[in-house]
Amino acid sequence: MIIFGAGGDLTRRKLMPALFRLAGAGMLADDFTVLGVAREAMDDDLFRAAIRTALEQFLPPEEATKEALDKFVPRLHYVAGDFAEAATYAAVQERLTVLETGRPADGGRLFYLAIPPSVYATAIDHLAQSGVARRLYAQSDRPWVRVIIEKPFGSSLESAQALNGVVRRAFSEHQIYRIDHYLGKETVQNLLVCRFANSIFEPLWNRQHIHHVQITAVETVGVERRGRYYEEAGVVRDMFQNHLLQLLTLTAMEPPVTFSADAVRDEKAKVLHAIRPITPATMHEYSVRGQYGPGTIDGSAVRGYRTEPDVSPDSGTATYAAVRFMIDNWRWQGVPFYLRSAKRMPRRATEIAIQFRQPPHLMFPLRDGEAFEPNVLAIRVQPNEGISLRFEVKTPGVDVRMASVEMDFNYVEAFGDNGHEAYETLILDCMLGDATLFTRSDEVEAAWSVVDPMIEFWGHKAPDHFPNYAAGTWGPSVADEWIHALGCRWRQP
Ligand code: NDP
Ligand code: BG6
Repeated sequence: MIIFGAGGDLTRRKLMPALFRLAGAGMLADDFTVLGVAREAMDDDLFRAAIRTALEQFLPPEEATKEALDKFVPRLHYVAGDFAEAATYAAVQERLTVLETGRPADGGRLFYLAIPPSVYATAIDHLAQSGVARRLYAQSDRPWVRVIIEKPFGSSLESAQALNGVVRRAFSEHQIYRIDHYLGKETVQNLLVCRFANSIFEPLWNRQHIHHVQITAVETVGVERRGRYYEEAGVVRDMFQNHLLQLLTLTAMEPPVTFSADAVRDEKAKVLHAIRPITPATMHEYSVRGQYGPGTIDGSAVRGYRTEPDVSPDSGTATYAAVRFMIDNWRWQGVPFYLRSAKRMPRRATEIAIQFRQPPHLMFPLRDGEAFEPNVLAIRVQPNEGISLRFEVKTPGVDVRMASVEMDFNYVEAFGDNGHEAYETLILDCMLGDATLFTRSDEVEAAWSVVDPMIEFWGHKAPDHFPNYAAGTWGPSVADEWIHALGCRWRQP
Protein backbone atom coordinates (compact mmCIF):
# COMPACT_ATOMS: atom_id res chain seq x y z
CA MET A 1 0.00 0.00 0.00
CA ILE A 2 1.45 3.33 -1.05
CA ILE A 3 0.13 6.23 1.01
CA PHE A 4 0.52 9.63 -0.60
CA GLY A 5 0.33 12.22 2.18
CA ALA A 6 1.88 9.91 4.75
CA GLY A 7 2.78 12.75 7.11
CA GLY A 8 -0.74 14.12 7.28
CA ASP A 9 -3.53 14.15 9.83
CA LEU A 10 -5.64 11.50 8.10
CA THR A 11 -2.75 9.06 7.86
CA ARG A 12 -1.84 9.48 11.51
CA ARG A 13 -5.36 9.56 12.94
CA LYS A 14 -7.24 7.07 10.78
CA LEU A 15 -5.22 5.13 8.22
CA MET A 16 -2.38 3.90 10.40
CA PRO A 17 -4.63 2.90 13.32
CA ALA A 18 -6.83 1.02 10.82
CA LEU A 19 -3.85 -0.84 9.31
CA PHE A 20 -2.45 -1.56 12.77
CA ARG A 21 -5.75 -3.13 13.83
CA LEU A 22 -6.10 -5.13 10.62
CA ALA A 23 -2.56 -6.42 11.08
CA GLY A 24 -3.29 -7.28 14.72
CA ALA A 25 -6.40 -9.19 13.68
CA GLY A 26 -4.35 -11.22 11.20
CA MET A 27 -6.19 -9.74 8.23
CA LEU A 28 -3.12 -8.56 6.34
CA ALA A 29 -0.68 -10.80 4.57
CA ASP A 30 2.57 -11.39 6.44
CA ASP A 31 4.50 -9.52 3.78
CA PHE A 32 2.06 -6.60 3.60
CA THR A 33 4.12 -3.41 3.38
CA VAL A 34 3.37 0.30 3.46
CA LEU A 35 5.34 2.88 1.53
CA GLY A 36 4.63 6.40 2.77
CA VAL A 37 5.25 9.39 0.54
CA ALA A 38 5.20 13.10 1.44
CA ARG A 39 7.42 16.16 1.18
CA GLU A 40 8.93 16.13 4.63
CA ALA A 41 12.49 14.83 4.60
CA MET A 42 12.51 11.61 6.62
CA ASP A 43 14.11 8.20 6.37
CA ASP A 44 12.37 4.93 7.23
CA ASP A 45 13.42 5.14 10.88
CA LEU A 46 12.08 8.65 11.41
CA PHE A 47 8.83 7.75 9.65
CA ARG A 48 8.42 4.65 11.81
CA ALA A 49 9.06 6.71 14.93
CA ALA A 50 6.48 9.32 13.86
CA ILE A 51 3.84 6.66 13.18
CA ARG A 52 4.63 4.88 16.44
CA THR A 53 3.94 8.15 18.27
CA ALA A 54 0.70 8.62 16.35
CA LEU A 55 -0.49 5.09 17.16
CA GLU A 56 0.29 5.65 20.84
CA GLN A 57 -1.70 8.87 20.66
CA PHE A 58 -4.75 7.62 18.80
CA LEU A 59 -5.15 4.07 20.11
CA PRO A 60 -5.86 2.96 23.67
CA PRO A 61 -2.70 1.88 25.55
CA GLU A 62 -3.93 -1.71 25.86
CA GLU A 63 -3.94 -1.92 22.04
CA ALA A 64 -0.81 0.06 21.21
CA THR A 65 1.48 -2.13 23.30
CA LYS A 66 5.24 -2.10 22.79
CA GLU A 67 5.12 -5.65 21.49
CA ALA A 68 2.40 -4.93 18.93
CA LEU A 69 4.08 -1.70 17.79
CA ASP A 70 7.46 -3.44 17.45
CA LYS A 71 5.80 -5.96 15.18
CA PHE A 72 3.93 -3.41 13.07
CA VAL A 73 6.34 -0.54 12.40
CA PRO A 74 8.99 -2.54 10.49
CA ARG A 75 6.35 -2.90 7.75
CA LEU A 76 6.58 0.87 7.13
CA HIS A 77 8.88 2.54 4.62
CA TYR A 78 9.18 6.10 3.39
CA VAL A 79 10.16 8.13 0.35
CA ALA A 80 10.31 11.95 0.43
CA GLY A 81 9.24 13.99 -2.57
CA ASP A 82 6.90 16.55 -4.04
CA PHE A 83 3.93 15.17 -6.00
CA ALA A 84 4.46 17.80 -8.67
CA GLU A 85 7.89 16.40 -9.56
CA ALA A 86 8.54 13.42 -11.83
CA ALA A 87 11.59 12.50 -9.72
CA THR A 88 9.26 11.57 -6.83
CA TYR A 89 7.56 8.88 -8.89
CA ALA A 90 10.89 7.55 -10.13
CA ALA A 91 11.98 7.26 -6.49
CA VAL A 92 8.71 5.54 -5.57
CA GLN A 93 9.11 3.08 -8.46
CA GLU A 94 12.68 2.35 -7.49
CA ARG A 95 11.69 1.71 -3.90
CA LEU A 96 8.74 -0.47 -4.88
CA THR A 97 10.94 -2.57 -7.12
CA VAL A 98 13.22 -3.27 -4.17
CA LEU A 99 10.33 -3.90 -1.76
CA GLU A 100 8.57 -6.23 -4.19
CA THR A 101 11.62 -8.28 -5.03
CA GLY A 102 11.27 -11.88 -3.96
CA ARG A 103 7.56 -11.57 -3.22
CA PRO A 104 4.81 -13.71 -4.73
CA ALA A 105 3.84 -12.39 -8.15
CA ASP A 106 0.17 -11.94 -7.25
CA GLY A 107 0.59 -8.99 -4.91
CA GLY A 108 -1.25 -5.80 -5.74
CA ARG A 109 -0.47 -2.12 -5.39
CA LEU A 110 -2.98 0.01 -3.55
CA PHE A 111 -2.42 3.76 -3.81
CA TYR A 112 -4.12 5.86 -1.14
CA LEU A 113 -4.36 9.56 -1.96
CA ALA A 114 -4.46 11.15 1.51
CA ILE A 115 -3.39 14.49 0.07
CA PRO A 116 -5.01 17.90 -0.34
CA PRO A 117 -7.63 17.86 -3.12
CA SER A 118 -5.64 20.51 -5.02
CA VAL A 119 -2.92 17.89 -5.57
CA TYR A 120 -5.18 14.98 -6.72
CA ALA A 121 -4.99 15.66 -10.46
CA THR A 122 -1.24 16.26 -10.49
CA ALA A 123 -0.56 13.06 -8.55
CA ILE A 124 -2.91 10.97 -10.68
CA ASP A 125 -1.44 12.25 -13.96
CA HIS A 126 2.06 11.53 -12.76
CA LEU A 127 1.07 8.09 -11.48
CA ALA A 128 -0.16 7.18 -14.95
CA GLN A 129 2.70 8.77 -16.90
CA SER A 130 5.49 7.46 -14.69
CA GLY A 131 4.38 3.86 -15.04
CA VAL A 132 4.11 3.39 -11.26
CA ALA A 133 0.42 2.62 -11.84
CA ARG A 134 0.56 1.99 -15.55
CA ARG A 135 -2.54 0.65 -17.25
CA LEU A 136 -0.81 -2.33 -18.76
CA TYR A 137 0.10 -3.50 -15.32
CA ALA A 138 -3.37 -2.62 -14.14
CA GLN A 139 -5.40 -4.44 -16.73
CA SER A 140 -4.98 -7.96 -15.55
CA ASP A 141 -6.53 -8.70 -12.17
CA ARG A 142 -3.31 -10.11 -10.76
CA PRO A 143 -1.23 -8.28 -9.91
CA TRP A 144 -3.72 -5.49 -9.46
CA VAL A 145 -3.51 -1.73 -9.05
CA ARG A 146 -6.22 0.23 -7.26
CA VAL A 147 -6.47 3.80 -6.05
CA ILE A 148 -8.42 5.21 -3.12
CA ILE A 149 -9.28 8.87 -3.48
CA GLU A 150 -10.28 10.87 -0.43
CA LYS A 151 -13.13 13.31 -0.17
CA PRO A 152 -13.91 15.97 -1.21
CA PHE A 153 -14.10 14.65 -4.77
CA GLY A 154 -14.34 18.02 -6.52
CA SER A 155 -15.95 21.17 -5.21
CA SER A 156 -18.81 21.39 -7.73
CA LEU A 157 -20.36 19.31 -10.49
CA GLU A 158 -18.01 20.85 -13.03
CA SER A 159 -14.83 20.21 -11.03
CA ALA A 160 -15.96 16.66 -10.14
CA GLN A 161 -16.54 15.94 -13.83
CA ALA A 162 -13.10 17.29 -14.66
CA LEU A 163 -11.51 15.19 -11.90
CA ASN A 164 -13.39 12.10 -13.05
CA GLY A 165 -11.92 12.74 -16.51
CA VAL A 166 -8.40 12.89 -15.08
CA VAL A 167 -8.87 9.75 -13.00
CA ARG A 168 -10.38 7.78 -15.86
CA ARG A 169 -7.48 8.64 -18.15
CA ALA A 170 -5.18 6.95 -15.62
CA PHE A 171 -7.37 4.14 -14.26
CA SER A 172 -10.38 2.07 -15.25
CA GLU A 173 -13.52 2.61 -13.17
CA HIS A 174 -13.11 -0.80 -11.49
CA GLN A 175 -9.75 0.36 -10.09
CA ILE A 176 -11.09 3.62 -8.63
CA TYR A 177 -12.32 3.69 -5.04
CA ARG A 178 -13.82 7.06 -4.06
CA ILE A 179 -14.04 6.86 -0.32
CA ASP A 180 -16.87 8.09 1.88
CA HIS A 181 -16.00 6.78 5.31
CA TYR A 182 -19.66 6.91 6.45
CA LEU A 183 -20.33 3.92 4.20
CA GLY A 184 -17.84 1.91 6.23
CA LYS A 185 -19.58 2.52 9.55
CA GLU A 186 -21.12 -0.64 10.98
CA THR A 187 -24.59 0.77 11.51
CA VAL A 188 -24.77 2.22 8.04
CA GLN A 189 -24.28 -1.26 6.63
CA ASN A 190 -26.73 -2.51 9.19
CA LEU A 191 -29.35 -0.25 7.66
CA LEU A 192 -29.14 -2.41 4.54
CA VAL A 193 -29.40 -5.63 6.52
CA CYS A 194 -32.24 -4.23 8.59
CA ARG A 195 -34.18 -3.23 5.46
CA PHE A 196 -33.41 -6.15 3.18
CA ALA A 197 -32.87 -9.17 5.44
CA ASN A 198 -36.13 -8.73 7.36
CA SER A 199 -39.65 -8.92 6.10
CA ILE A 200 -41.26 -6.67 8.70
CA PHE A 201 -39.86 -3.28 7.70
CA GLU A 202 -39.97 -3.18 3.93
CA PRO A 203 -43.79 -3.37 3.57
CA LEU A 204 -43.98 -0.18 5.68
CA TRP A 205 -41.06 1.56 3.96
CA ASN A 206 -43.01 3.92 1.74
CA ARG A 207 -45.28 6.95 1.49
CA GLN A 208 -48.33 5.04 2.78
CA HIS A 209 -46.76 4.52 6.20
CA ILE A 210 -43.89 6.96 6.61
CA HIS A 211 -44.65 10.55 7.56
CA HIS A 212 -41.11 11.86 7.19
CA VAL A 213 -37.45 10.93 7.65
CA GLN A 214 -34.85 12.86 9.66
CA ILE A 215 -31.17 12.27 8.98
CA THR A 216 -28.92 14.01 11.46
CA ALA A 217 -25.13 14.21 11.67
CA VAL A 218 -24.11 16.71 14.33
CA GLU A 219 -20.83 17.17 16.15
CA THR A 220 -19.55 18.95 19.24
CA VAL A 221 -16.25 19.83 17.57
CA GLY A 222 -15.72 23.09 15.71
CA VAL A 223 -13.51 23.47 12.66
CA GLU A 224 -10.40 22.76 14.75
CA ARG A 225 -7.34 23.56 12.63
CA ARG A 226 -9.13 23.19 9.29
CA GLY A 227 -10.37 26.78 9.05
CA ARG A 228 -8.84 27.40 5.64
CA TYR A 229 -10.44 24.30 4.14
CA TYR A 230 -13.77 24.91 5.87
CA GLU A 231 -14.02 28.51 4.67
CA GLU A 232 -14.04 27.12 1.12
CA ALA A 233 -16.18 24.10 1.89
CA GLY A 234 -18.86 25.01 4.46
CA VAL A 235 -21.22 22.42 5.82
CA VAL A 236 -22.93 21.60 2.51
CA ARG A 237 -19.76 20.59 0.69
CA ASP A 238 -18.23 19.07 3.81
CA MET A 239 -21.12 16.88 4.96
CA PHE A 240 -24.16 17.03 2.66
CA GLN A 241 -22.66 16.31 -0.75
CA ASN A 242 -21.15 13.10 0.58
CA HIS A 243 -22.03 11.62 3.98
CA LEU A 244 -25.62 12.85 4.36
CA LEU A 245 -26.70 12.20 0.79
CA GLN A 246 -25.14 8.75 1.01
CA LEU A 247 -27.23 8.02 4.11
CA LEU A 248 -30.28 9.29 2.26
CA THR A 249 -29.67 7.03 -0.73
CA LEU A 250 -29.32 3.92 1.45
CA THR A 251 -32.51 4.81 3.30
CA ALA A 252 -34.52 5.52 0.18
CA MET A 253 -33.21 3.15 -2.48
CA GLU A 254 -35.10 0.23 -3.98
CA PRO A 255 -33.91 -3.28 -3.08
CA PRO A 256 -30.85 -4.07 -5.22
CA VAL A 257 -30.95 -7.41 -7.01
CA THR A 258 -27.67 -8.53 -5.44
CA PHE A 259 -25.29 -7.17 -2.82
CA SER A 260 -22.74 -6.29 -5.46
CA ALA A 261 -21.06 -3.00 -6.22
CA ASP A 262 -22.94 -2.11 -9.37
CA ALA A 263 -26.35 -3.37 -8.27
CA VAL A 264 -26.21 -1.31 -5.05
CA ARG A 265 -24.73 1.75 -6.71
CA ASP A 266 -27.28 1.66 -9.56
CA GLU A 267 -30.09 1.94 -7.00
CA LYS A 268 -28.37 4.69 -5.03
CA ALA A 269 -27.77 6.72 -8.18
CA LYS A 270 -31.48 6.46 -9.09
CA VAL A 271 -32.42 8.06 -5.77
CA LEU A 272 -30.07 10.99 -6.34
CA HIS A 273 -31.54 11.52 -9.79
CA ALA A 274 -35.06 11.55 -8.32
CA ILE A 275 -34.37 14.32 -5.79
CA ARG A 276 -36.45 17.37 -6.64
CA PRO A 277 -34.13 20.23 -7.71
CA ILE A 278 -33.99 23.15 -5.31
CA THR A 279 -34.10 26.49 -7.15
CA PRO A 280 -33.23 30.01 -5.96
CA ALA A 281 -36.96 30.77 -5.75
CA THR A 282 -37.64 27.78 -3.47
CA MET A 283 -34.48 27.91 -1.30
CA HIS A 284 -36.30 29.38 1.71
CA GLU A 285 -38.92 26.60 1.59
CA TYR A 286 -36.27 23.91 1.49
CA SER A 287 -33.36 25.04 3.61
CA VAL A 288 -32.06 26.95 6.61
CA ARG A 289 -28.46 27.81 7.39
CA GLY A 290 -26.54 28.91 10.45
CA GLN A 291 -23.14 29.68 11.90
CA TYR A 292 -21.99 29.22 15.47
CA GLY A 293 -21.02 32.05 17.74
CA PRO A 294 -19.18 31.74 21.06
CA GLY A 295 -20.73 29.37 23.59
CA THR A 296 -20.11 26.48 25.92
CA ILE A 297 -19.37 22.84 25.12
CA ASP A 298 -19.12 20.29 27.92
CA GLY A 299 -18.78 23.08 30.47
CA SER A 300 -15.92 24.86 28.66
CA ALA A 301 -16.18 28.19 26.88
CA VAL A 302 -15.45 27.93 23.16
CA ARG A 303 -14.91 30.62 20.55
CA GLY A 304 -17.26 31.46 17.72
CA TYR A 305 -16.57 30.36 14.15
CA ARG A 306 -15.49 33.82 13.01
CA THR A 307 -12.59 33.86 15.48
CA GLU A 308 -11.32 30.36 14.65
CA PRO A 309 -7.80 30.26 13.07
CA ASP A 310 -7.77 31.02 9.32
CA VAL A 311 -11.42 32.14 9.33
CA SER A 312 -12.49 35.56 8.10
CA PRO A 313 -13.91 37.81 10.89
CA ASP A 314 -16.99 38.48 8.75
CA SER A 315 -17.25 34.98 7.26
CA GLY A 316 -20.54 34.00 5.66
CA THR A 317 -19.70 30.27 5.75
CA ALA A 318 -22.47 28.05 7.12
CA THR A 319 -21.55 25.62 9.90
CA TYR A 320 -25.20 24.49 10.24
CA ALA A 321 -27.63 23.51 7.53
CA ALA A 322 -31.01 21.85 7.51
CA VAL A 323 -32.47 20.87 4.16
CA ARG A 324 -35.75 19.28 3.13
CA PHE A 325 -35.32 16.93 0.20
CA MET A 326 -38.29 15.55 -1.73
CA ILE A 327 -37.79 12.39 -3.75
CA ASP A 328 -40.02 12.41 -6.80
CA ASN A 329 -40.61 8.72 -7.34
CA TRP A 330 -43.40 6.23 -6.77
CA ARG A 331 -42.29 5.12 -3.30
CA TRP A 332 -41.53 8.50 -1.72
CA GLN A 333 -43.87 11.02 -3.34
CA GLY A 334 -44.80 13.59 -0.67
CA VAL A 335 -42.48 12.27 2.08
CA PRO A 336 -40.00 14.93 3.26
CA PHE A 337 -36.45 13.88 4.08
CA TYR A 338 -35.04 16.42 6.55
CA LEU A 339 -31.26 16.36 6.57
CA ARG A 340 -29.37 18.30 9.23
CA SER A 341 -25.69 18.68 9.99
CA ALA A 342 -23.76 21.09 12.16
CA LYS A 343 -20.65 21.72 14.18
CA ARG A 344 -20.63 22.79 17.83
CA MET A 345 -23.89 21.11 18.83
CA PRO A 346 -24.47 19.93 22.42
CA ARG A 347 -23.88 16.28 21.51
CA ARG A 348 -22.17 14.22 18.82
CA ALA A 349 -24.81 12.12 17.12
CA THR A 350 -25.54 10.62 13.75
CA GLU A 351 -28.88 8.92 13.24
CA ILE A 352 -31.52 8.10 10.68
CA ALA A 353 -35.00 8.41 12.14
CA ILE A 354 -38.01 7.07 10.28
CA GLN A 355 -41.18 8.63 11.65
CA PHE A 356 -44.31 6.69 10.82
CA ARG A 357 -47.76 8.13 10.21
CA GLN A 358 -50.13 8.27 13.13
CA PRO A 359 -53.16 5.96 13.16
CA PRO A 360 -56.01 7.52 11.18
CA HIS A 361 -58.25 7.62 14.25
CA LEU A 362 -57.37 7.51 17.94
CA MET A 363 -60.05 5.82 20.02
CA PHE A 364 -58.25 6.38 23.35
CA PRO A 365 -59.08 9.72 24.92
CA LEU A 366 -56.14 12.00 25.69
CA ARG A 367 -56.20 13.85 28.97
CA ASP A 368 -54.89 17.34 29.49
CA GLY A 369 -51.16 17.49 28.93
CA GLU A 370 -51.02 14.00 27.40
CA ALA A 371 -49.38 13.71 24.01
CA PHE A 372 -49.68 10.94 21.49
CA GLU A 373 -46.29 10.17 20.01
CA PRO A 374 -45.81 8.70 16.54
CA ASN A 375 -43.81 5.48 16.06
CA VAL A 376 -40.17 6.10 15.23
CA LEU A 377 -37.54 3.66 14.01
CA ALA A 378 -34.18 5.23 14.84
CA ILE A 379 -30.95 3.88 13.43
CA ARG A 380 -28.17 5.24 15.63
CA VAL A 381 -25.07 5.40 13.46
CA GLN A 382 -22.92 6.82 16.27
CA PRO A 383 -22.30 6.88 19.17
CA ASN A 384 -24.10 4.18 21.15
CA GLU A 385 -24.61 2.31 17.87
CA GLY A 386 -27.90 0.49 17.59
CA ILE A 387 -31.50 0.55 16.43
CA SER A 388 -34.58 1.43 18.45
CA LEU A 389 -38.28 1.36 17.80
CA ARG A 390 -40.59 3.66 19.71
CA PHE A 391 -44.19 2.65 20.18
CA GLU A 392 -47.12 3.34 22.48
CA VAL A 393 -48.20 1.07 25.34
CA LYS A 394 -50.78 1.17 28.09
CA THR A 395 -49.33 2.18 31.43
CA PRO A 396 -50.28 -0.03 34.44
CA GLY A 397 -53.52 1.02 36.13
CA VAL A 398 -57.24 0.74 35.96
CA ASP A 399 -57.76 3.42 33.35
CA VAL A 400 -56.33 3.50 29.84
CA ARG A 401 -53.32 5.78 29.73
CA MET A 402 -50.58 5.64 27.18
CA ALA A 403 -46.84 6.07 27.28
CA SER A 404 -44.06 5.76 24.71
CA VAL A 405 -41.53 2.98 25.19
CA GLU A 406 -38.53 1.86 23.18
CA MET A 407 -37.46 -1.54 22.02
CA ASP A 408 -33.73 -1.24 21.72
CA PHE A 409 -30.96 -3.13 19.99
CA ASN A 410 -27.53 -2.01 21.14
CA TYR A 411 -24.40 -3.20 19.37
CA VAL A 412 -22.18 -3.45 22.42
CA GLU A 413 -24.81 -5.22 24.53
CA ALA A 414 -25.59 -7.68 21.76
CA PHE A 415 -22.12 -8.37 20.38
CA GLY A 416 -19.63 -7.06 22.92
CA ASP A 417 -18.17 -4.40 20.65
CA ASN A 418 -18.99 -2.04 17.81
CA GLY A 419 -17.17 -3.98 15.13
CA HIS A 420 -14.55 -2.50 12.89
CA GLU A 421 -13.79 1.17 12.45
CA ALA A 422 -14.95 2.48 9.08
CA TYR A 423 -11.46 2.83 7.64
CA GLU A 424 -10.61 -0.78 8.54
CA THR A 425 -13.63 -2.08 6.66
CA LEU A 426 -13.06 0.13 3.65
CA ILE A 427 -9.32 -0.47 3.25
CA LEU A 428 -9.89 -4.21 3.51
CA ASP A 429 -12.76 -4.08 0.99
CA CYS A 430 -10.53 -2.24 -1.46
CA MET A 431 -7.78 -4.84 -1.05
CA LEU A 432 -10.37 -7.52 -1.77
CA GLY A 433 -11.62 -5.65 -4.81
CA ASP A 434 -15.11 -4.98 -3.43
CA ALA A 435 -16.30 -1.49 -4.35
CA THR A 436 -19.83 -1.80 -2.95
CA LEU A 437 -19.14 0.68 -0.15
CA PHE A 438 -17.39 3.21 -2.38
CA THR A 439 -19.02 5.84 -4.56
CA ARG A 440 -19.13 5.57 -8.33
CA SER A 441 -18.49 8.54 -10.64
CA ASP A 442 -22.17 8.98 -11.58
CA GLU A 443 -23.20 9.05 -7.90
CA VAL A 444 -20.62 11.68 -7.05
CA GLU A 445 -21.72 13.83 -9.96
CA ALA A 446 -25.41 13.40 -9.20
CA ALA A 447 -24.78 14.43 -5.58
CA TRP A 448 -23.02 17.58 -6.74
CA SER A 449 -25.99 18.36 -9.02
CA VAL A 450 -28.21 18.20 -5.94
CA VAL A 451 -26.16 20.55 -3.76
CA ASP A 452 -24.64 22.91 -6.34
CA PRO A 453 -27.71 25.21 -6.59
CA MET A 454 -27.73 25.65 -2.79
CA ILE A 455 -24.03 26.39 -2.62
CA GLU A 456 -24.35 28.85 -5.48
CA PHE A 457 -27.36 30.61 -3.98
CA TRP A 458 -25.82 30.91 -0.52
CA GLY A 459 -22.52 32.00 -2.06
CA HIS A 460 -24.23 34.96 -3.73
CA LYS A 461 -26.51 35.90 -0.89
CA ALA A 462 -24.38 36.69 2.15
CA PRO A 463 -26.28 36.14 5.42
CA ASP A 464 -26.79 39.28 7.51
CA HIS A 465 -27.73 37.38 10.66
CA PHE A 466 -24.59 35.29 11.31
CA PRO A 467 -23.67 34.04 13.87
CA ASN A 468 -27.19 32.85 14.66
CA TYR A 469 -26.62 30.07 17.19
CA ALA A 470 -24.42 29.79 20.22
CA ALA A 471 -21.93 26.91 20.33
CA GLY A 472 -23.41 24.16 22.49
CA THR A 473 -27.03 24.77 21.43
CA TRP A 474 -29.22 22.89 18.94
CA GLY A 475 -28.86 25.44 16.13
CA PRO A 476 -30.63 28.62 15.06
CA SER A 477 -34.18 29.24 16.25
CA VAL A 478 -35.15 29.88 12.64
CA ALA A 479 -34.54 26.16 11.96
CA ASP A 480 -37.08 25.23 14.65
CA GLU A 481 -39.61 27.71 13.31
CA TRP A 482 -39.07 26.45 9.77
CA ILE A 483 -39.68 22.79 10.58
CA HIS A 484 -42.66 23.61 12.86
CA ALA A 485 -44.26 25.48 9.99
CA LEU A 486 -43.90 22.27 7.97
CA GLY A 487 -45.73 20.26 10.64
CA CYS A 488 -42.70 18.49 12.19
CA ARG A 489 -40.22 19.01 14.98
CA TRP A 490 -36.56 18.14 15.36
CA ARG A 491 -35.59 15.09 17.29
CA GLN A 492 -32.79 15.51 19.79
CA PRO A 493 -30.76 12.36 19.15
P1 NDP B 1 -2.87 17.19 5.87
O1 NDP B 1 -2.69 18.57 5.35
O2 NDP B 1 -2.77 16.94 7.32
O3 NDP B 1 -1.82 16.22 5.15
C1 NDP B 1 -1.53 16.31 3.78
C2 NDP B 1 -0.35 15.41 3.45
O4 NDP B 1 -0.07 15.57 2.06
C3 NDP B 1 0.91 15.73 4.20
O5 NDP B 1 1.59 14.53 4.46
C4 NDP B 1 1.72 16.55 3.20
O6 NDP B 1 3.07 16.29 3.40
C5 NDP B 1 1.31 15.91 1.90
N1 NDP B 1 1.43 16.82 0.76
C6 NDP B 1 0.67 17.91 0.49
N2 NDP B 1 1.04 18.47 -0.68
C7 NDP B 1 2.06 17.71 -1.15
C8 NDP B 1 2.86 17.76 -2.30
N3 NDP B 1 2.71 18.70 -3.24
N4 NDP B 1 3.82 16.82 -2.45
C9 NDP B 1 4.01 15.85 -1.52
N5 NDP B 1 3.28 15.76 -0.40
C10 NDP B 1 2.31 16.67 -0.22
O7 NDP B 1 -4.27 16.71 5.29
P2 NDP B 1 -5.23 15.56 5.87
O8 NDP B 1 -4.43 14.37 6.22
O9 NDP B 1 -6.11 16.16 6.90
O10 NDP B 1 -6.17 15.27 4.62
C11 NDP B 1 -5.74 14.51 3.51
C12 NDP B 1 -6.94 14.25 2.61
O11 NDP B 1 -7.91 13.51 3.34
C13 NDP B 1 -7.66 15.51 2.14
O12 NDP B 1 -8.15 15.29 0.86
C14 NDP B 1 -8.81 15.65 3.12
O13 NDP B 1 -9.88 16.35 2.56
C15 NDP B 1 -9.15 14.18 3.35
N6 NDP B 1 -9.86 13.95 4.60
C16 NDP B 1 -9.24 14.19 5.79
C17 NDP B 1 -9.92 13.92 6.97
C18 NDP B 1 -9.25 14.12 8.29
O14 NDP B 1 -9.89 13.77 9.28
N7 NDP B 1 -8.04 14.64 8.34
C19 NDP B 1 -11.33 13.41 6.99
C20 NDP B 1 -11.86 13.17 5.68
C21 NDP B 1 -11.13 13.44 4.55
P3 NDP B 1 4.15 17.44 3.68
O15 NDP B 1 3.56 18.31 4.73
O16 NDP B 1 5.37 16.70 4.08
O17 NDP B 1 4.26 18.14 2.41
C1 BG6 C 1 -15.37 14.57 7.59
C2 BG6 C 1 -15.61 16.05 7.62
O1 BG6 C 1 -15.59 14.06 6.31
O2 BG6 C 1 -16.27 13.94 8.50
C3 BG6 C 1 -15.42 16.59 9.02
O3 BG6 C 1 -14.68 16.68 6.74
C4 BG6 C 1 -16.29 15.84 9.99
O4 BG6 C 1 -15.72 17.98 9.07
C5 BG6 C 1 -16.09 14.35 9.84
O5 BG6 C 1 -15.93 16.25 11.30
C6 BG6 C 1 -17.09 13.57 10.68
O6 BG6 C 1 -16.76 12.22 10.65
P1 BG6 C 1 -17.16 11.26 11.87
O7 BG6 C 1 -16.76 9.91 11.42
O8 BG6 C 1 -16.39 11.76 13.06
O9 BG6 C 1 -18.63 11.44 12.06
